[in-house]
Amino acid sequence: MNLFATLEQAYQTAQAALEAAGDTSALEAWYADTLGRKGAITLQVRSVGQLPAEERPAFGKRVNEIKQALEAAYAARAEAIKQAELTRELEAGAVDVTLPGRPVPLGHLHLTTQTLRQIYTIFARMGFEVYDAPDVELESYNFDLLNIPEYHPARDMWDTFWMQQIHNSPTRLLLRTHTSPGQMRAMRERYPEPIRVILPGKCYRYEQITARSEHQFYQVEGLAVGKRITMTDLIGTLTQFAAMFYGPGHKMRVRSSYFPFTEPSIEMDMDCILCGGKGCRVCKYTGWLEIAGAGMVHPVVLKNGGYDPDEWSGFAFGFGVERPAMLKYNVSDIRYFYGNDLRFLRQF
Ligand code: DAH
Repeated sequence: MNLFATLEQAYQTAQAALEAAGDTSALEAWYADTLGRKGAITLQVRSVGQLPAEERPAFGKRVNEIKQALEAAYAARAEAIKQAELTRELEAGAVDVTLPGRPVPLGHLHLTTQTLRQIYTIFARMGFEVYDAPDVELESYNFDLLNIPEYHPARDMWDTFWMQQIHNSPTRLLLRTHTSPGQMRAMRERYPEPIRVILPGKCYRYEQITARSEHQFYQVEGLAVGKRITMTDLIGTLTQFAAMFYGPGHKMRVRSSYFPFTEPSIEMDMDCILCGGKGCRVCKYTGWLEIAGAGMVHPVVLKNGGYDPDEWSGFAFGFGVERPAMLKYNVSDIRYFYGNDLRFLRQF
């Protein structure tokens, strides 16, 4: 066959194939087969050598026309296919705006945070402000300045997580074992003002984890320092707190106790909220629950804080947060507070 006729036939075939290409991938294949490096039209150029010299320019010109025409047709087809695909996609993904919305799950505050906030509110109404103190503490603030010297047996009351000691540093760091070191920070910052603060925060103890004890837990410390503060102020404050946190009508009692940083030291008990004082497993059949350790700030501690104990006096108390929450919300195991089990958390 005449090379010109072959060329025209290849052109027609290519046009028909382009019409038939229905999507982007067919179109890409068409391009490679037709105008690509080894495409049918591209290869036509090679046959130019078989023609007599005088026919070559005309053949070359025709090949170029066809190429240009096919490039233009390809571009138009590509655009049409793109539009068609877009339309199809939009139709497939059409949103029915009349469908009801899907609810977005909302988180909420952790039970510990909720409990802490209740405690803040109660003490705020009695004029206490919240004072923040660090979790990583100096040994001196956690112990010595609170009248707990090294090697004193009272240190055994707090099993301690020590931080790795910075090379040659004379000070040792630890994770605070109680919120009491915040007392010292508040006093040293506020002297010579009177003080009425609560110090909430996480505490850490090197302890076996059980249903009743965690190695991390929250405490709320209280500290009042002033010129005529007495034990009755302390008992009144804790009694009022218990009434507002657990509800009115509870019996309270005071037992004497020992803490190195208070003198005298007491523990406040409340009648067991589960058995009403009759005795049950939770109150270990005593009818009473301990709600706080407390006392009058020890003169040595006042002095370490900058306050002259002949002029100033104060009370302090401290209690955990998870245990009161366990009592109030009937939670049987302290480990739930740190377990991050949504089935537990969602209940509150
Ligand atoms: N820091 C004590 C503890 O962790 C609790 C405590 C007892 C705090 C008596 C006080 C206090 O402020 O006066 O066991």
